Amino acid sequence: MACDQREGVRMISFSVAFDPNKGIGIKGALPWHLKDELKIFKRNTMYKNILMGQTTFDGLPRKLADRYITVASIDPNYHPEEAEVTNDLKGFLEEHEDDETEYIICGGASIFNQAYPYAKKAYVSFVKEEYEVDTWFNVFEMEDWDIVLEEDHPDFVYRELVRKSEK
Ligand SMILES: NC(=O)c1ccc[n+]([C@@H]2O[C@H](COP(=O)([O-])OP(=O)(O)OC[C@H]3O[C@@H](n4cnc5c(N)ncnc54)[C@H](OP(=O)(O)O)[C@@H]3O)[C@@H](O)[C@H]2O)c1
Repeated sequence: MACDQREGVRMISFSVAFDPNKGIGIKGALPWHLKDELKIFKRNTMYKNILMGQTTFDGLPRKLADRYITVASIDPNYHPEEAEVTNDLKGFLEEHEDDETEYIICGGASIFNQAYPYAKKAYVSFVKEEYEVDTWFNVFEMEDWDIVLEEDHPDFVYRELVRKSEK
């Protein structure tokens, strides 16, 4: 079930935290534990439609309450209890890019990299320290985006971005 939210918002967006090398994960988990960053993720995604890859969903330490979750998986027999499943990510993105609701892509690397061209807004935490990682958000380029909001935190800078072509 999809949720209706901010009127007039039609778009795919993404929420990510990455280090100075665009590193986002290690061994199926986050490389860091940043409480304030998790609070921002919660604030941005609460009561919204979110989409994530099967690896990220299966690796969640606990259920994400009060969010409408779709999981991308190529396994037609994968049916988790608390989420919808799409076996066709590209079809899902094409179907929803002009929806009246916002769909927030929440990773991981393979999903971010495929969904990137569809996203018009981004919620990004730029982690200040370099971490040991094994997955990267390679296709992200800052030159594609304008900054519309910036908050400095001790371990990261949080920025909201809007795709340049959307202005
Ligand atoms: N820092 C952050 O903000 C952040 C956020 C989320 C996740 N992460 C991290 O990212 C890492 C996981 O990333 P990941 O790339 O390994 O996995 P992932 O993107 O979470 O999930 C990949 C899953 O999606 C499936 N998939 C890929 N393309 C698909 C498509 N086009 N249609 C349907 N299903 C598709 C894959 O199937 P196949 O394997 O068969 O291709 C696989 O089951 C973890 O370390 C996690 O903690 C970081």
